[in-house]
Amino acid sequence: MNFKWLKTLNLNKKRIFLRADLNIPLKNDQILQDFKLEAILPTIDFILKNEGKIVLATHIGRPEPGNKSDLLEKSLSTKILIPWFKNRGYNIDYEPDLIMAEKKSHQNSNSILLLENLRYFVGERENSIKFAELLAATADLYVNDAFGNIHRTDTSTTLLAKQFSPTKRSFGLLIEKELKNLDQIRLNKSDNFVVVLGGIKIKDKIKMLENLMTNTDKQKARAFIIGGGIALAFLKTKGLNVGNIELDEQTLGMAEKILHNAQENDVEIILPVDQIIKDARVEASMVEASIVGNAGVAEIVDVEKIPTSAKCIDIGPKTIKLFSQEIKKASVIFTNGTMGIYDMQGGEVGTQSILQAITDANALAIVGGGDATAATCIFGLQDKMDFLSTGGGATLKYLGCKNPEQEMPGLQAMLD
Ligand code: 3PG
Repeated sequence: MNFKWLKTLNLNKKRIFLRADLNIPLKNDQILQDFKLEAILPTIDFILKNEGKIVLATHIGRPEPGNKSDLLEKSLSTKILIPWFKNRGYNIDYEPDLIMAEKKSHQNSNSILLLENLRYFVGERENSIKFAELLAATADLYVNDAFGNIHRTDTSTTLLAKQFSPTKRSFGLLIEKELKNLDQIRLNKSDNFVVVLGGIKIKDKIKMLENLMTNTDKQKARAFIIGGGIALAFLKTKGLNVGNIELDEQTLGMAEKILHNAQENDVEIILPVDQIIKDARVEASMVEASIVGNAGVAEIVDVEKIPTSAKCIDIGPKTIKLFSQEIKKASVIFTNGTMGIYDMQGGEVGTQSILQAITDANALAIVGGGDATAATCIFGLQDKMDFLSTGGGATLKYLGCKNPEQEMPGLQAMLD
Protein backbone atom coordinates (compact mmCIF):
# COMPACT_ATOMS: atom_id res chain seq x y z
CA MET A 1 0.00 0.00 0.00
CA ASN A 2 1.22 3.44 -0.88
CA PHE A 3 1.29 4.94 2.62
CA LYS A 4 3.81 6.94 4.59
CA TRP A 5 5.09 5.34 7.77
CA LEU A 6 6.30 6.87 11.02
CA LYS A 7 9.98 6.20 10.34
CA THR A 8 9.91 8.64 7.40
CA LEU A 9 9.00 11.67 9.55
CA ASN A 10 11.54 13.97 11.15
CA LEU A 11 10.16 14.08 14.69
CA ASN A 12 12.93 16.02 16.40
CA LYS A 13 11.55 18.85 18.60
CA LYS A 14 8.28 18.71 16.68
CA ARG A 15 4.80 18.47 18.20
CA ILE A 16 3.10 15.35 16.91
CA PHE A 17 -0.67 14.94 17.02
CA LEU A 18 -0.99 11.23 17.80
CA ARG A 19 -4.51 9.93 17.15
CA ALA A 20 -4.73 6.69 19.09
CA ASP A 21 -7.59 4.30 19.79
CA LEU A 22 -7.55 4.08 23.58
CA ASN A 23 -11.22 3.15 23.73
CA ILE A 24 -10.77 0.74 26.61
CA PRO A 25 -13.46 -1.11 28.58
CA LEU A 26 -14.26 0.68 31.86
CA LYS A 27 -16.31 -0.24 34.91
CA ASN A 28 -16.78 1.99 37.96
CA ASP A 29 -13.94 4.24 36.80
CA GLN A 30 -11.58 1.27 36.55
CA ILE A 31 -9.77 0.17 33.40
CA LEU A 32 -10.92 -3.41 32.82
CA GLN A 33 -8.38 -4.19 30.15
CA ASP A 34 -5.28 -2.29 29.06
CA PHE A 35 -4.51 -4.23 25.86
CA LYS A 36 -5.05 -1.16 23.64
CA LEU A 37 -2.89 0.98 25.92
CA GLU A 38 -0.03 -1.52 25.75
CA ALA A 39 -0.43 -1.68 21.98
CA ILE A 40 0.16 2.05 21.46
CA LEU A 41 3.35 2.17 23.58
CA PRO A 42 5.81 1.28 20.77
CA THR A 43 4.62 4.33 18.81
CA ILE A 44 4.76 6.60 21.85
CA ASP A 45 8.24 5.32 22.75
CA PHE A 46 9.47 5.75 19.18
CA ILE A 47 8.29 9.38 19.04
CA LEU A 48 9.70 10.24 22.45
CA LYS A 49 13.02 8.54 21.67
CA ASN A 50 13.27 10.73 18.60
CA GLU A 51 12.74 13.86 20.72
CA GLY A 52 9.16 14.44 19.59
CA LYS A 53 6.48 16.02 21.77
CA ILE A 54 3.19 14.14 21.73
CA VAL A 55 -0.29 15.63 21.68
CA LEU A 56 -2.25 12.46 22.44
CA ALA A 57 -5.89 12.15 21.42
CA THR A 58 -8.46 9.37 21.51
CA HIS A 59 -12.16 8.72 21.80
CA ILE A 60 -13.60 6.64 24.64
CA GLY A 61 -17.08 5.18 24.29
CA ARG A 62 -19.93 6.94 22.51
CA PRO A 63 -20.85 9.96 24.68
CA GLU A 64 -23.43 12.55 23.63
CA PRO A 65 -21.25 15.52 22.69
CA GLY A 66 -21.85 18.92 24.26
CA ASN A 67 -23.73 17.67 27.33
CA LYS A 68 -21.02 18.27 29.92
CA SER A 69 -23.25 17.59 32.92
CA ASP A 70 -24.02 14.10 31.75
CA LEU A 71 -22.67 11.63 34.31
CA LEU A 72 -21.92 9.02 31.68
CA GLU A 73 -19.94 11.59 29.77
CA LYS A 74 -17.84 12.46 32.80
CA SER A 75 -17.01 8.83 33.35
CA LEU A 76 -15.65 8.70 29.80
CA SER A 77 -13.05 11.42 30.33
CA THR A 78 -9.52 10.64 29.15
CA LYS A 79 -8.37 11.67 32.66
CA ILE A 80 -8.90 8.04 33.58
CA LEU A 81 -5.84 7.15 31.49
CA ILE A 82 -3.39 9.44 33.30
CA PRO A 83 -2.47 7.15 36.25
CA TRP A 84 -1.87 4.26 33.84
CA PHE A 85 0.73 6.27 31.92
CA LYS A 86 2.24 7.81 35.07
CA ASN A 87 2.67 4.37 36.65
CA ARG A 88 4.78 3.43 33.65
CA GLY A 89 7.00 6.49 34.04
CA TYR A 90 5.55 8.69 31.27
CA ASN A 91 5.61 12.45 31.66
CA ILE A 92 1.95 13.16 30.90
CA ASP A 93 -0.09 16.33 31.25
CA TYR A 94 -3.80 16.83 30.51
CA GLU A 95 -5.43 19.72 28.64
CA PRO A 96 -9.16 19.62 27.84
CA ASP A 97 -9.18 23.06 26.18
CA LEU A 98 -7.97 22.91 22.58
CA ILE A 99 -7.00 26.61 22.45
CA MET A 100 -4.90 26.14 25.58
CA ALA A 101 -3.41 22.98 24.09
CA GLU A 102 -2.34 24.97 21.03
CA LYS A 103 -0.61 27.50 23.27
CA LYS A 104 1.38 24.84 25.10
CA SER A 105 3.87 24.57 22.23
CA HIS A 106 6.70 25.05 24.73
CA GLN A 107 5.86 21.51 25.94
CA ASN A 108 9.06 19.57 26.71
CA SER A 109 10.44 16.96 24.36
CA ASN A 110 9.84 13.58 25.91
CA SER A 111 6.40 14.61 27.16
CA ILE A 112 2.78 13.81 26.38
CA LEU A 113 -0.09 16.31 26.40
CA LEU A 114 -3.34 14.38 26.65
CA LEU A 115 -6.46 15.94 25.13
CA GLU A 116 -10.02 15.27 26.31
CA ASN A 117 -12.20 12.52 24.80
CA LEU A 118 -12.58 13.66 21.17
CA ARG A 119 -16.21 12.58 21.14
CA TYR A 120 -17.00 15.18 23.80
CA PHE A 121 -16.65 17.70 20.94
CA VAL A 122 -19.54 18.01 18.50
CA GLY A 123 -17.12 18.38 15.57
CA GLU A 124 -15.60 14.91 15.94
CA ARG A 125 -18.61 12.98 14.59
CA GLU A 126 -19.85 15.74 12.30
CA ASN A 127 -17.02 16.03 9.78
CA SER A 128 -16.23 19.55 10.83
CA ILE A 129 -13.41 21.39 9.08
CA LYS A 130 -13.44 23.93 11.90
CA PHE A 131 -12.80 21.18 14.44
CA ALA A 132 -10.09 19.69 12.22
CA GLU A 133 -8.40 23.11 12.10
CA LEU A 134 -8.56 23.46 15.87
CA LEU A 135 -6.95 20.06 16.35
CA ALA A 136 -4.34 20.71 13.63
CA ALA A 137 -3.26 23.94 15.33
CA THR A 138 -1.97 21.92 18.30
CA ALA A 139 0.78 20.16 16.33
CA ASP A 140 3.37 20.26 13.51
CA LEU A 141 2.91 16.67 12.37
CA TYR A 142 0.06 14.16 12.32
CA VAL A 143 0.31 10.46 13.12
CA ASN A 144 -2.74 8.24 12.92
CA ASP A 145 -2.34 5.05 14.92
CA ALA A 146 -6.01 4.49 15.76
CA PHE A 147 -6.46 1.22 13.89
CA GLY A 148 -9.75 0.48 15.69
CA ASN A 149 -11.22 3.65 14.18
CA ILE A 150 -10.11 3.46 10.53
CA HIS A 151 -13.56 2.28 9.45
CA ARG A 152 -15.12 5.45 10.89
CA THR A 153 -15.38 8.91 9.31
CA ASP A 154 -14.56 10.75 12.57
CA THR A 155 -12.93 14.13 11.90
CA SER A 156 -9.70 13.30 13.73
CA THR A 157 -9.02 10.31 11.46
CA THR A 158 -10.19 11.82 8.16
CA LEU A 159 -10.40 15.62 7.75
CA LEU A 160 -7.62 16.22 10.23
CA ALA A 161 -5.17 14.18 8.13
CA LYS A 162 -5.84 16.54 5.20
CA GLN A 163 -4.81 19.53 7.33
CA PHE A 164 -1.23 18.28 7.08
CA SER A 165 0.73 18.02 3.84
CA PRO A 166 1.65 14.44 2.79
CA THR A 167 5.22 14.93 4.07
CA LYS A 168 3.90 15.88 7.50
CA ARG A 169 1.64 12.95 8.18
CA SER A 170 1.99 9.20 8.57
CA PHE A 171 0.51 6.12 10.13
CA GLY A 172 1.96 4.87 13.41
CA LEU A 173 3.70 1.59 14.21
CA LEU A 174 0.49 -0.09 15.38
CA ILE A 175 -1.40 0.48 12.13
CA GLU A 176 1.66 -0.70 10.22
CA LYS A 177 1.68 -3.90 12.29
CA GLU A 178 -2.09 -4.39 12.04
CA LEU A 179 -2.15 -4.12 8.24
CA LYS A 180 0.85 -6.41 7.85
CA ASN A 181 -0.66 -9.10 10.08
CA LEU A 182 -4.24 -8.84 8.86
CA ASP A 183 -3.09 -9.01 5.25
CA GLN A 184 -1.89 -12.53 6.00
CA ILE A 185 -5.59 -13.31 6.41
CA ARG A 186 -7.15 -10.92 3.89
CA LEU A 187 -4.72 -12.04 1.19
CA ASN A 188 -4.28 -15.54 2.54
CA LYS A 189 -1.95 -17.78 0.50
CA SER A 190 -2.46 -21.04 2.37
CA ASP A 191 -4.82 -23.73 1.08
CA ASN A 192 -5.28 -24.85 4.67
CA PHE A 193 -6.83 -21.72 6.12
CA VAL A 194 -9.58 -22.07 8.71
CA VAL A 195 -11.81 -19.35 10.19
CA VAL A 196 -13.14 -19.90 13.73
CA LEU A 197 -16.16 -17.70 14.35
CA GLY A 198 -18.37 -16.99 17.30
CA GLY A 199 -20.23 -14.04 18.78
CA ILE A 200 -23.75 -12.86 18.22
CA LYS A 201 -24.25 -10.77 15.10
CA ILE A 202 -23.87 -12.24 11.63
CA LYS A 203 -24.56 -8.81 10.14
CA ASP A 204 -21.19 -7.47 11.34
CA LYS A 205 -19.34 -10.41 9.83
CA ILE A 206 -21.08 -11.14 6.56
CA LYS A 207 -18.77 -9.13 4.27
CA MET A 208 -15.72 -10.66 5.90
CA LEU A 209 -17.24 -14.14 5.56
CA GLU A 210 -18.03 -13.59 1.90
CA ASN A 211 -14.60 -12.17 1.15
CA LEU A 212 -12.72 -15.03 2.84
CA MET A 213 -14.97 -17.58 1.20
CA THR A 214 -14.45 -16.56 -2.40
CA ASN A 215 -11.44 -17.34 -4.46
CA THR A 216 -10.17 -14.35 -6.43
CA ASP A 217 -6.61 -13.10 -5.96
CA LYS A 218 -6.07 -15.30 -2.91
CA GLN A 219 -6.75 -18.71 -1.43
CA LYS A 220 -10.18 -19.01 0.11
CA ALA A 221 -10.73 -20.43 3.57
CA ARG A 222 -10.99 -24.22 3.61
CA ALA A 223 -13.49 -24.28 6.45
CA PHE A 224 -15.51 -22.06 8.76
CA ILE A 225 -15.92 -23.40 12.27
CA ILE A 226 -18.90 -21.57 13.74
CA GLY A 227 -20.01 -21.46 17.37
CA GLY A 228 -21.55 -18.83 19.66
CA GLY A 229 -24.90 -17.16 19.05
CA ILE A 230 -24.35 -16.97 15.29
CA ALA A 231 -24.19 -20.75 15.04
CA LEU A 232 -27.77 -20.86 16.30
CA ALA A 233 -28.95 -18.92 13.24
CA PHE A 234 -27.29 -21.53 11.01
CA LEU A 235 -28.81 -24.39 12.98
CA LYS A 236 -32.23 -22.76 12.76
CA THR A 237 -32.02 -22.40 8.98
CA LYS A 238 -31.31 -26.13 8.94
CA GLY A 239 -34.66 -26.65 10.64
CA LEU A 240 -33.51 -27.16 14.24
CA ASN A 241 -35.08 -25.66 17.31
CA VAL A 242 -32.47 -23.41 18.97
CA GLY A 243 -34.29 -22.36 22.13
CA ASN A 244 -35.11 -19.00 23.57
CA ILE A 245 -33.35 -16.58 21.25
CA GLU A 246 -34.72 -13.94 18.89
CA LEU A 247 -33.50 -14.45 15.36
CA ASP A 248 -35.00 -12.02 12.85
CA GLU A 249 -35.67 -12.71 9.19
CA GLN A 250 -32.63 -10.70 8.09
CA THR A 251 -30.28 -12.77 10.28
CA LEU A 252 -31.75 -16.04 9.08
CA GLY A 253 -31.58 -14.83 5.49
CA MET A 254 -27.89 -14.05 5.91
CA ALA A 255 -27.19 -17.46 7.42
CA GLU A 256 -28.94 -19.09 4.51
CA LYS A 257 -26.97 -17.02 2.01
CA ILE A 258 -23.68 -17.95 3.69
CA LEU A 259 -24.57 -21.66 3.65
CA HIS A 260 -25.42 -21.34 -0.03
CA ASN A 261 -22.18 -19.46 -0.85
CA ALA A 262 -20.15 -21.99 1.09
CA GLN A 263 -21.62 -24.83 -0.96
CA GLU A 264 -20.99 -22.95 -4.22
CA ASN A 265 -17.38 -22.28 -3.23
CA ASP A 266 -16.74 -25.72 -1.80
CA VAL A 267 -16.07 -24.33 1.69
CA GLU A 268 -16.94 -26.48 4.67
CA ILE A 269 -19.16 -25.03 7.41
CA ILE A 270 -18.72 -26.86 10.70
CA LEU A 271 -21.46 -26.25 13.26
CA PRO A 272 -21.99 -27.30 16.90
CA VAL A 273 -23.38 -30.75 17.64
CA ASP A 274 -24.23 -30.03 21.26
CA GLN A 275 -24.86 -27.02 23.46
CA ILE A 276 -24.75 -26.00 27.11
CA ILE A 277 -28.19 -24.72 27.95
CA LYS A 278 -29.61 -23.18 31.09
CA ASP A 279 -32.92 -22.86 32.92
CA ALA A 280 -34.68 -25.08 30.49
CA ARG A 281 -37.52 -27.43 31.27
CA VAL A 282 -35.49 -30.24 29.83
CA GLU A 283 -36.86 -33.73 29.80
CA ALA A 284 -34.64 -35.91 31.92
CA SER A 285 -33.92 -38.20 29.00
CA MET A 286 -32.33 -35.39 27.01
CA VAL A 287 -29.88 -34.39 29.69
CA GLU A 288 -26.46 -35.99 29.46
CA ALA A 289 -24.79 -34.11 32.30
CA SER A 290 -25.34 -31.14 34.51
CA ILE A 291 -23.17 -28.24 35.58
CA VAL A 292 -23.97 -25.90 38.43
CA GLY A 293 -22.63 -22.36 38.11
CA ASN A 294 -23.83 -18.81 38.76
CA ALA A 295 -25.80 -19.23 35.58
CA GLY A 296 -28.08 -21.54 37.52
CA VAL A 297 -28.29 -25.18 36.55
CA ALA A 298 -26.81 -25.75 33.11
CA GLU A 299 -27.12 -28.90 31.05
CA ILE A 300 -25.54 -30.44 28.01
CA VAL A 301 -27.88 -31.32 25.21
CA ASP A 302 -27.49 -32.40 21.57
CA VAL A 303 -28.47 -29.70 19.08
CA GLU A 304 -31.39 -31.79 17.81
CA LYS A 305 -32.86 -31.72 21.32
CA ILE A 306 -32.68 -28.07 22.39
CA PRO A 307 -35.99 -27.26 24.14
CA THR A 308 -37.88 -24.08 23.14
CA SER A 309 -37.51 -22.63 26.65
CA ALA A 310 -33.72 -23.16 26.77
CA LYS A 311 -31.07 -20.49 26.50
CA CYS A 312 -27.87 -21.70 24.88
CA ILE A 313 -24.87 -20.34 26.76
CA ASP A 314 -21.95 -22.31 25.30
CA ILE A 315 -20.92 -25.11 22.98
CA GLY A 316 -20.90 -28.58 24.52
CA PRO A 317 -18.05 -31.12 24.97
CA LYS A 318 -18.71 -33.04 21.73
CA THR A 319 -18.52 -29.76 19.83
CA ILE A 320 -15.31 -28.79 21.60
CA LYS A 321 -13.80 -32.10 20.50
CA LEU A 322 -15.05 -31.76 16.92
CA PHE A 323 -13.87 -28.13 16.57
CA SER A 324 -10.50 -28.88 18.21
CA GLN A 325 -9.82 -31.76 15.80
CA GLU A 326 -10.46 -29.46 12.83
CA ILE A 327 -8.37 -26.66 14.33
CA LYS A 328 -5.46 -29.03 14.88
CA LYS A 329 -5.26 -29.71 11.12
CA ALA A 330 -5.12 -26.04 10.07
CA SER A 331 -2.03 -24.08 8.96
CA VAL A 332 -3.55 -20.60 9.18
CA ILE A 333 -6.33 -19.63 11.61
CA PHE A 334 -8.28 -16.44 12.03
CA THR A 335 -10.64 -16.28 14.98
CA ASN A 336 -13.31 -13.76 15.85
CA GLY A 337 -16.05 -13.82 18.47
CA THR A 338 -16.53 -16.29 21.31
CA MET A 339 -18.14 -19.70 21.58
CA GLY A 340 -20.34 -18.83 24.54
CA ILE A 341 -21.00 -16.32 27.30
CA TYR A 342 -17.38 -16.53 28.41
CA ASP A 343 -17.66 -14.16 31.37
CA MET A 344 -20.43 -16.23 32.95
CA GLN A 345 -19.57 -19.24 35.10
CA GLY A 346 -20.68 -22.28 33.15
CA GLY A 347 -20.46 -20.41 29.82
CA GLU A 348 -16.69 -20.04 29.56
CA VAL A 349 -15.41 -23.56 28.86
CA GLY A 350 -16.10 -23.57 25.11
CA THR A 351 -14.33 -20.28 24.46
CA GLN A 352 -11.35 -21.19 26.63
CA SER A 353 -11.00 -24.68 25.11
CA ILE A 354 -11.22 -23.43 21.52
CA LEU A 355 -8.70 -20.63 22.11
CA GLN A 356 -6.44 -23.21 23.76
CA ALA A 357 -6.83 -25.52 20.75
CA ILE A 358 -5.85 -22.64 18.45
CA THR A 359 -2.67 -21.97 20.42
CA ASP A 360 -1.89 -25.72 20.47
CA ALA A 361 -2.22 -26.00 16.67
CA ASN A 362 0.89 -25.65 14.60
CA ALA A 363 -0.62 -22.71 12.76
CA LEU A 364 -0.32 -19.00 12.21
CA ALA A 365 -2.99 -17.76 14.63
CA ILE A 366 -4.56 -14.31 14.42
CA VAL A 367 -7.28 -13.06 16.76
CA GLY A 368 -9.61 -10.16 15.91
CA GLY A 369 -12.53 -8.42 17.57
CA GLY A 370 -13.10 -7.05 21.06
CA ASP A 371 -14.58 -10.16 22.68
CA ALA A 372 -12.12 -12.66 21.19
CA THR A 373 -9.11 -10.55 22.21
CA ALA A 374 -10.58 -9.88 25.66
CA ALA A 375 -11.20 -13.61 26.19
CA THR A 376 -7.70 -14.45 24.93
CA CYS A 377 -6.23 -12.07 27.52
CA ILE A 378 -8.54 -13.27 30.32
CA PHE A 379 -7.47 -16.89 29.71
CA GLY A 380 -3.79 -15.80 29.57
CA LEU A 381 -3.25 -16.99 26.00
CA GLN A 382 -2.21 -13.68 24.40
CA ASP A 383 1.50 -14.51 24.20
CA LYS A 384 0.75 -17.82 22.47
CA MET A 385 -1.14 -16.20 19.57
CA ASP A 386 0.77 -14.76 16.62
CA PHE A 387 -1.20 -11.55 16.62
CA LEU A 388 -4.10 -9.94 18.46
CA SER A 389 -5.78 -7.17 16.52
CA THR A 390 -6.86 -4.07 18.45
CA GLY A 391 -9.78 -3.52 16.09
CA GLY A 392 -13.36 -4.67 16.53
CA GLY A 393 -15.50 -3.41 13.65
CA ALA A 394 -12.36 -2.11 11.94
CA THR A 395 -10.79 -5.58 11.75
CA LEU A 396 -13.93 -7.18 10.35
CA LYS A 397 -14.39 -4.40 7.82
CA TYR A 398 -10.73 -4.57 6.79
CA LEU A 399 -10.94 -8.31 6.19
CA GLY A 400 -14.09 -7.75 4.13
CA CYS A 401 -12.39 -5.24 1.82
CA LYS A 402 -11.22 -5.82 -1.71
CA ASN A 403 -9.59 -2.34 -1.81
CA PRO A 404 -9.02 -1.16 1.77
CA GLU A 405 -7.47 2.17 0.68
CA GLN A 406 -10.73 3.09 -0.99
CA GLU A 407 -13.13 1.42 1.43
CA MET A 408 -11.71 2.43 4.82
CA PRO A 409 -12.13 6.19 5.46
CA GLY A 410 -9.14 6.36 7.81
CA LEU A 411 -6.85 4.84 5.17
CA GLN A 412 -8.30 6.80 2.27
CA ALA A 413 -7.73 10.12 4.07
CA MET A 414 -3.97 9.46 4.16
CA LEU A 415 -3.56 8.90 0.43
CA ASP A 416 -1.61 11.69 -1.31
C1 3PG B 1 -13.61 0.04 18.91
O1 3PG B 1 -13.54 -0.12 20.12
O2 3PG B 1 -13.99 -0.88 18.13
C2 3PG B 1 -13.15 1.34 18.34
O3 3PG B 1 -12.59 2.14 19.32
C3 3PG B 1 -14.27 2.05 17.61
O4 3PG B 1 -15.25 2.46 18.50
P1 3PG B 1 -16.72 2.78 17.97
O5 3PG B 1 -17.31 1.50 17.50
O6 3PG B 1 -17.44 3.40 19.12
O7 3PG B 1 -16.56 3.76 16.81
